[in-house]
Amino acid sequence: MNNKIQNFREERNKLNERILAKENNASIMKRIYGLDTFAYMERGTGLNSKQKEIIGLATSMVLRCDDCIKYHLEKCFELGVANDEMMDIFGIANVVGGTIVIPHTRRAIEYWELLNNERPLPSPFDRETKEKRYKEVTQSLKSLLEGIENQTSVMATINEVLISSIPYFYWVGFYLAEEKHLTVGPYQGTHGCLFIRYGEGVCGRAATTRQSIIVKDIQKLNDYQTGNIGKLHITCDPRCKSEIVVPVINRNNKLIAVFDIDSLHINAFDEVDKHYLEEIIKIYF
Ligand code: SME
Repeated sequence: MNNKIQNFREERNKLNERILAKENNASIMKRIYGLDTFAYMERGTGLNSKQKEIIGLATSMVLRCDDCIKYHLEKCFELGVANDEMMDIFGIANVVGGTIVIPHTRRAIEYWELLNNERPLPSPFDRETKEKRYKEVTQSLKSLLEGIENQTSVMATINEVLISSIPYFYWVGFYLAEEKHLTVGPYQGTHGCLFIRYGEGVCGRAATTRQSIIVKDIQKLNDYQTGNIGKLHITCDPRCKSEIVVPVINRNNKLIAVFDIDSLHINAFDEVDKHYLEEIIKIYF
């Protein structure tokens, strides 16, 4: 990965953790971070994530915060903002903010091009890097979620921490177990399907069997599935190439949700992901 991108991501994560680890200011900062997550979260009404990130980017440019600009460029990239859309964002930010925004636009175009040159997408990590990153994620969650009981806040925070720390994650979210079907809950990424029937798709099958499922190559599964065996996989975003779903079973042994992660990369998930994701779910539900 390009050094500028890697340094930015690592420094941001490391320093965020240091802020959150300081107990005397933790409660205010934690709330501010939580509010930030909430503000950009897609909630099924109002603006979608991509629109929110575009606003976040334009306003960060007008306020001339290079770190904020980089962060929103990354999110816009993940959410599929196209080059000509990006040029419109730059244009509007410069019209509103004036020519003083031009130097920030220079740095923004450089970072945007670096992100685009990163294609093909970031590969899944090797085993060692995966384990290291999951341990860091587990540690961040521990400091962020201490004493938090609200299930939605826990789900939203897990989503945010994972998607911003693990580059091969593209869609991360929960489907809630309701009487008749699974209903989409907190998630980060492009539009999720709103309902999934029990027994259908990867999520519905993980819910029924109460077992984690890894799909290494979604296309192969789609090619294999035929009308008479029912839906083994449900396509929400055709760009997704592999998927893992972990059932969320609470301490009373009740299935309350499934935790679904998609990647744009074939074969992104393995036993290491399964192990750590199941651990995270066991800790918080
Ligand atoms: N692919 C899932 C549907 C949910 S989306 O991936 C967000 C499935 O087959 O259950």
